[in-house]
Amino acid sequence: MSTHDTIDADRRRLVGAAGAAGIVALLRPGTGLATEAHAAMPPAEATAGFKPDIELELNAVADEIRVLPGNATRLWRFTGRVLRGNPQALSFLDGSGHIPVIRVRRGQKLRIHFTNRLPEDSIVHWHGLHIVQRMDGHPMYAIGSGKQYVYEFVVNNRAGTHWFHPHPHERTGLQVYFGLAGLFLVGDDEEDAARLPRGEFDLPLVIQDRSFNDANQLVYLAPGMMARMMGFQGDRVLVNGSAEYVRPVARAAHRMRILNASNSTLYSLRWSDGRPLTLIATDGGLLERPLTRGSLTLGIGERADVWVDFSERQPGDEIALAAESWSPSLENVTGLQTGAAPVSGGRPIARFRVAAGAARKSVLPQRLSAFPALRLEDAVNRGRPRTVQLSMQRGQAMLNGRAFGRMDEVADDEKVKLGTTEVWEFANDASFGMRMAHPMHVHNLQFRVIERSGPGHALSAGFTDEGLKDVVLVLPGQRVKMLMKFEDYTGIYLYHCHILEHEDLGMMRNYLVRA
Ligand code: C2O
Ligand code: CU
Ligand code: CU
Repeated sequence: MSTHDTIDADRRRLVGAAGAAGIVALLRPGTGLATEAHAAMPPAEATAGFKPDIELELNAVADEIRVLPGNATRLWRFTGRVLRGNPQALSFLDGSGHIPVIRVRRGQKLRIHFTNRLPEDSIVHWHGLHIVQRMDGHPMYAIGSGKQYVYEFVVNNRAGTHWFHPHPHERTGLQVYFGLAGLFLVGDDEEDAARLPRGEFDLPLVIQDRSFNDANQLVYLAPGMMARMMGFQGDRVLVNGSAEYVRPVARAAHRMRILNASNSTLYSLRWSDGRPLTLIATDGGLLERPLTRGSLTLGIGERADVWVDFSERQPGDEIALAAESWSPSLENVTGLQTGAAPVSGGRPIARFRVAAGAARKSVLPQRLSAFPALRLEDAVNRGRPRTVQLSMQRGQAMLNGRAFGRMDEVADDEKVKLGTTEVWEFANDASFGMRMAHPMHVHNLQFRVIERSGPGHALSAGFTDEGLKDVVLVLPGQRVKMLMKFEDYTGIYLYHCHILEHEDLGMMRNYLVRA
């Protein structure tokens, strides 16, 4: 595996050289940061036997977009078009228009021709999808500049709000920050039967924080290890790529699909008029029944779908979604953890103006969905959870004392058996090192959170632990137990902290599903 060593050494040198000052230069095409070396894996190509229902072209490109008044902002973005199938299968969000949305239905076959037009390696990961290893966008499949990777897969997931983003080794944080992230929305018959708001009444809200310099250019992380450990916090919160998100809404019920696609920032969300939030779905799709919460806390990568009814409001009324931003450091999350969080209501990040017109009444069904219950008694290790200790020390962010190593490295305690159910436990209570909140993500499956313990585990913090999940926020001192079932596919998949700077630091490991 000496090729990997060379690639890794090379990249480390390049990442070090990029620093903060290099970032703006980095975004100019042809600045020479392109790595010639890319993964040893041959890129997947289109296969003749696969007959897609939907075929898309998707490119990662450098571009400029006007985000703030004045100069346009240089960024990276996805472009693309529908080659076959439903013309609505790919669209771009309102706001600044550069965030793509892929809409598909469960059971559909997808072919996506991804072309990397960035000056460095990249690969796209479908966050939330249950998918064969070769299509999951593991960094081992990263392709070089100008190269193409053809994804072919069946959408196995039930209806839900998923997303996609690059996943190259040590560059995920930077590539997402500079604009590469999109939504992947799955629909199905069960969701149709719940008669939830659709079309213009179904609003995705992608939350990301950014910092801009005087020339309106994006500023990423300060140089040095400490900045990576602390993670990146921007001074503005963007919604759907827009610094001032305002949207007219009809006097009717809406579904809002909220995604925290920030690099490191956690948010507590509230309605500005004090009404509770009606939660209808989490990461893996609809809940069994709606829940109400005073506030919702979203870790990085987490999704929450909320239902909101504007029919009682008068034309001209304005209701805002307000967000309190939290850096994941211990000092910062203490308030969140003790429930003593400032109930300032936070800053409005998305404002909804009620338009003129007749009010349309609608009723939220009390039964939304049913999903196969994972049962603790089915777990092969019910009394002995597979514990993953989270820790940060001496510039290293680790899982059970190990950082991401070789692309295909799997330790003995990271092997699970196909078809089994296990209890895993993320333990964020190391007695040494730096203490931070870590939103932990597992690829390829949706799990159930069965227990959260430790300081601040109470619901007042607004965790979205219900339903099916692929990210769980673990605050300092806490332990979270989950049930997961390894189904359908053998292979290597990742589990990692979704603070993108931690992931890039190596707070990520492979697990192997073996036959
Ligand atoms: Cu959102 Cu490993 O991914
Ligand atoms: Cu993922
Ligand atoms: Cu972390």
